Amino acid sequence: MRKIIAVFCSIIFFTSCQQKNEKIETVSAKDTVKTSSNFQMYEISEMAALMEQMYAYNTQLKERIANNEQLGDYPVAFDKLHTAILTDPADRDAFFTEQAFKFITAQKAIYADTLLAKDNFNKMVNQCLECHSKKCGGPIPRIKKLLIP
Ligand code: HEC
Repeated sequence: MRKIIAVFCSIIFFTSCQQKNEKIETVSAKDTVKTSSNFQMYEISEMAALMEQMYAYNTQLKERIANNEQLGDYPVAFDKLHTAILTDPADRDAFFTEQAFKFITAQKAIYADTLLAKDNFNKMVNQCLECHSKKCGGPIPRIKKLLIP
């Protein structure tokens, strides 16, 4: 009796928090089933995906502030900062939890006062940076680009 066994090698990359700015590609399960050997599956954590979502959302919010458009509401999905699974679960310590609360408070403040939206937006970006100064240095240059001059 013979069985073809597909060996699934899942390689989790830890590069995103380092200085490299490589783009991580995700390969869908459908693509990988066909191959029986020598393939790699790239994964990013739930938290990394949430971070990318926060980055993309705030890039758009920056535009809306610049154009005096409606800002909408605080994205409740950001509350997942308190629960999303990290690449390194040990990163969720007292510092992280405190920073997560401060960041969410800062993000919510943006919608509370349209006249101060720009200042409050930059405060929110500085909260991203405050957590990143200790937790994940790699994306700092990218995050700084969010600041409104
Ligand atoms: C409470 C701490 C904290 C806050 C606040 C925070 N980050 Fe992060 N960020 C992290 C950690 C930790 C990681 C690594 C996540 C992982 O690998 O699981 C990360 C990862 C990232 C990444 C890399 C994701 C990837 O592709 O691997 C980006 C980009 C990022 N954050 C942007 C932001 C932006 C923009 C903000 C603010 C809008 C922000 N972060 C706020 C802690 C934080």
